[in-house]
Amino acid sequence: MIPMDAEITHIVNETPSIRTFFFDFSLEHIPGQYVMVWIRGVDEVPMSLSYPNAITVQKIGEATSKLFKMVKGDSFGIRGPFGNGFSLEGRSILLVVGGVGAAPLGALADRAKSDGLRVETILGAKRADELLFEKRFKEAGDLLITTDDGSLGHKGLATDLVGEIDLTKYDAIYSCGPEEMMFRVLNVVEGIGMSSRAQFSLQRYVKCGLGICGACCIDPYGLRICRDGPIFRGDQLTETEFGRYMRDASGKRVKI
Ligand SMILES: Cc1cc2nc3c(=O)[nH]c(=O)nc-3n(C[C@H](O)[C@H](O)[C@H](O)COP(=O)(O)OP(=O)(O)OC[C@H]3O[C@@H](n4cnc5c(N)ncnc54)[C@H](O)[C@@H]3O)c2cc1C
Ligand code: FES
Repeated sequence: MIPMDAEITHIVNETPSIRTFFFDFSLEHIPGQYVMVWIRGVDEVPMSLSYPNAITVQKIGEATSKLFKMVKGDSFGIRGPFGNGFSLEGRSILLVVGGVGAAPLGALADRAKSDGLRVETILGAKRADELLFEKRFKEAGDLLITTDDGSLGHKGLATDLVGEIDLTKYDAIYSCGPEEMMFRVLNVVEGIGMSSRAQFSLQRYVKCGLGICGACCIDPYGLRICRDGPIFRGDQLTETEFGRYMRDASGKRVKI
């Protein structure tokens, strides 16, 4: 598939490290699906669609730093959307969000609100100024905030609150953020027999995005993040490498 040329129409500075890049067309997609973003001369990297016509990006390394140098009128290539996306289930849902994990879950919150679901969100970030889409989640339903340094809301991790809430009142739980955070959520839901009602969006190295190179396979069953995911139910992740180790760009195992 040849990438489509996406011209940047405007850029929103969401937090000191995160920006939303709007482009000049919309993609029909299921919240949680991603696109492969080709930054010419550097790399092609996976990004969730945060809106039908936007990606929301945290500056991490080479590709994302080049993206942050782009201005209105510049362009990048897009292939996709790819992957399965979240499945909205029941009438009452909980979102557990860490950092830039708000990109796919912001899109899910919008869809859930327009479908008339009751939405509660636990939104965590390192500091108050790194909270992403606070207003968007508030407009979708109830919002609880956590910050690592206590600059806003509960001081600590989003998972601290997950342990304190009666999770059985939700029909489904959705989580995206650092893998350590999602692993803690998985342990809590597993402990109360709810792992099949929780969906996790994995953010790891994806290369081809087509299910053929094997770079994104999860041990021991070989589930591919790019094709079988990036959304997996909790009961698919228990007894796997999730939360324990992952592969780096060269395919080498690295501890999480
Ligand atoms: C399905 C999917 C959806 C994603 N959606 C988003 C999104 O909406 N917004 C967003 O900002 N990011 C998202 N990511 C992560 C994003 O793809 C990486 O941050 C990006 O590829 C980093 O590229 P880089 O060249 O800037 O960094 P690199 O130069 O490749 O990496 C720099 C360092 O960052 C770390 N790193 C790189 N990639 C990852 C990763 N995937 N996970 C954890 N650590 C990593 C490594 O330690 C690495 O040494 C998503 C990933 C996947 C698989
Ligand atoms: S990235 Fe190639 S198989 Fe998933």
